[in-house]
Amino acid sequence: MAHPYSARSRAIEPFHVMALLARANELQAAGHDVIHLEIGEPDFTTAAPIVAAGQAALAAGHTRYTAARGLPALREAIAGFYAQRYGLSIDPQRILITPGGSGALLLASSLLVDPGKHWLLADPGYPCNRHFLRLVEGGAQLVPVGPEVNYQLTADLVQRYWDQDTVGALVASPANPTGTVLGRTELASLAKATRERHGHLVVDEIYHGLTYGMDAPSVLEVDDSAFVLNSFSKYFGMTGWRLGWLVAPPQAVADLEKLAQNLYISAPSMAQHAALACFQPETLAIFEQRRAEFARRRDYLLPALRELGFRIAVEPQGAFYLYADISAYGGDAFAFCRHFLETEHVAFTPGLDFGRHLAGHHVRFAYTQSLPRLEEAVHRIARGLRSWQG
Ligand SMILES: Cc1ncc(COP(=O)(O)O)c(C=O)c1O
Repeated sequence: MAHPYSARSRAIEPFHVMALLARANELQAAGHDVIHLEIGEPDFTTAAPIVAAGQAALAAGHTRYTAARGLPALREAIAGFYAQRYGLSIDPQRILITPGGSGALLLASSLLVDPGKHWLLADPGYPCNRHFLRLVEGGAQLVPVGPEVNYQLTADLVQRYWDQDTVGALVASPANPTGTVLGRTELASLAKATRERHGHLVVDEIYHGLTYGMDAPSVLEVDDSAFVLNSFSKYFGMTGWRLGWLVAPPQAVADLEKLAQNLYISAPSMAQHAALACFQPETLAIFEQRRAEFARRRDYLLPALRELGFRIAVEPQGAFYLYADISAYGGDAFAFCRHFLETEHVAFTPGLDFGRHLAGHHVRFAYTQSLPRLEEAVHRIARGLRSWQG
């Protein structure tokens, strides 16, 4: 019998960690103290000035659609942020406000990918990317990457994997799940390699701001024709408000606007009004305090896990993840995650959620918990390793 639902929906995998999360919630409901290191969002709630601006927006009746491109004031504020943070002059006309970075990804893949065409993506990487490509009837050419290339695509890899159906490359800097960052030189050579092949370079910069001891360069510093995805979710701490943006070359904007009108009409208006408060100095100061807190957590958790025998080959410079090789302990990553959840009530994510390349012996830890909770997690992980029989 024919399947009642589309082939494209069947091709999309669920997050494997959801099965673990459901079990974690069960354990929690039964009274166990579960430490969640599987969650890919900041543990901080949205900063008070943003919440106040959101409340004021609601009280003032800003509850209707906005223009499909987003509020002009917010697009200008974002352009101002590029000037201040990167020294870049970006025309606000090139900025479209989207429902999360996810909305920006939907726009970019809809605009740039025809059926049967594909983008090069690093494996491991953010799983939704390949699913968005599948939804537009295109696909992902997954490129296995390891520590030797900082878990990132390189111009060499672009050259090696590009074929007649490749129309672009998508990279993330800082990356999920590895936290690695692309420097200016790497971005410039990726831009050159894709341009030479008449393809597009799309850069996911949604973890910008969450880098430690350095700032990540934007691809726009070296290539004005790249497409940039960004978000209010991570550095700005607004995951649930569903707000992001896309910076596109000027000639692409009208087509993107048309897609936005049809796909979602506009990003949430109250969230857009609230986000205007992000760029005030006192709000930026809160983000910077939180960034310093993430840096402290990384500086604790990275050596602590390494000491236990987890192999984290490249020091992550950004995001809030550690991607660890567990082959020293033997066994499969999913079973490993389940073991720690069941015996020690510590939840983290199996590599399978980020691709296929060596996924069976990698796991991702998110340091989206306070330092004392991370210390407790490390204590429990050390104990759980003694009972693990890989
Ligand atoms: C690399 C990457 N890109 C995009 C997203 C989408 O996030 P949002 O839609 O909340 O901006 C995420 C979320 O975890 C992510 O890790």
